[in-house]
Amino acid sequence: MTSTSTIMDSNSFKAKDLASLDKATAALVARREVLGPSYRLFYQKPLHFVRGKGTRLYTADGEEYLDAYNNIPSLGHSHPKVAQAVSQQLGLINTHTRYLHEGILDYAEDLLSTLPGAIDRIMFLLSGSEANDLAVRIAKAASGSTGILVTQEAYHGNTDLIAKLSPAIGADQPMAVDMRMIPTPDTYRLGTGDIGQWMAGCVKEQIDDLRRHGIGFAGILLDSIFSSDGVFPDDAGFLRPVIDLVHEEGGFYIADEVQPGFARTGEAFWGFERHGIVPDIVTMGKPMANGIACSGVATKAEVLSAFAEGSPYFNTFAGSPVAMAAASATLAAIREDGLQENAKAIGSSLKEGLQELARSFPELGDVRGAGLFLGLEIVVPGSTRPDHATAVKLIEEMRERHVLVSLCGPAGNVVKVRPPLAFSNSDKDLFLSAFEGSLKALGA
Ligand SMILES: Cc1ncc(COP(=O)(O)O)c(C=O)c1O
Repeated sequence: MTSTSTIMDSNSFKAKDLASLDKATAALVARREVLGPSYRLFYQKPLHFVRGKGTRLYTADGEEYLDAYNNIPSLGHSHPKVAQAVSQQLGLINTHTRYLHEGILDYAEDLLSTLPGAIDRIMFLLSGSEANDLAVRIAKAASGSTGILVTQEAYHGNTDLIAKLSPAIGADQPMAVDMRMIPTPDTYRLGTGDIGQWMAGCVKEQIDDLRRHGIGFAGILLDSIFSSDGVFPDDAGFLRPVIDLVHEEGGFYIADEVQPGFARTGEAFWGFERHGIVPDIVTMGKPMANGIACSGVATKAEVLSAFAEGSPYFNTFAGSPVAMAAASATLAAIREDGLQENAKAIGSSLKEGLQELARSFPELGDVRGAGLFLGLEIVVPGSTRPDHATAVKLIEEMRERHVLVSLCGPAGNVVKVRPPLAFSNSDKDLFLSAFEGSLKALGA
């Protein structure tokens, strides 16, 4: 490993810790050499899960863990309705988008009903990376330009095009010559006052810089909750002047909803909705089909046309009847299980509980979040200086207490809490008691 990546390496297993593992874990870790060196495992002592149910995961030894980090099975692990929908469809037929099938149309119509009326087209893919890749191609075709803006610690995926727009991958990852970075809207350090105007100013500078280099402005790609930048949801509405400016400058706004979409923020179904803005293109993935590969690009017919008229699109497994059955069952269960309301209620009492803890533990510098997506700043007490080493210790302490969380932010010091949306009141209590115990253990 030559350079480290904030999103991949902040709490990854390091080969130097191999000797401290039990025999069975060490053997599995050693066998992973066959996968090559790009993969990362979580934790100093990697975990081997063999079963999941609801918010809980179970190791090969039968130990139970509370999952407070996985936003993919947002209905909960192994949700019976999704399992049933997938197995039923797989037992019937699974083809692709070059044959007619009602499943894709029923789901497309249902999904579009959750988006602003102006967004009337949806294409399906398999991963968030693919969705962002297609979205950028659509924005480039529609604008006739190639310049794209992202935030400085953004992660949008792993295709060649998107890795070059994902600075969080690490310093060895080359960036595209026609991209520019804007600073993270770090409201903890900058204050929330005029953050929107400040950010719009940063965007203007970078659009001007692109043009000075002979590169036209195609658009801006923004994670609506700035996940890898450190989780910055507030104040809701701060993106409005930014997107107004993007439109004045002739660019397209791509909302990356891979993390905040599908009810996670509790206050809205989509992260951008909290800001009172309408994107030109919306990308989505992770929780869309509760663990089955499925992602999407939703846009307006007039935005899509330049790309679609020039390029036919086929993606073998995307939009298959099985993927659509899983996605439909997921959307239905979000509604039936009241998960948006749950995210709002449990998320806000979790945030309050953590804010209470922050009053006693000065290393917990800031608690922020929307719904069940929280960022907890671990800092040097009495300052806003990030403390990465303490943050790593803290999440290892949480792991010892059988609660899973991870880290994000440019300094790898923000604890990211992002559990399945089915997180219950008792899950929240368990989380708070483990977090308090872990904070106390830091000083021990
Ligand atoms: C904001 C965001 N966009 C895109 C992606 C890429 O999604 P995928 O891993 O499904 O390709 C991720 C993955 O972590 C993400 O966090």
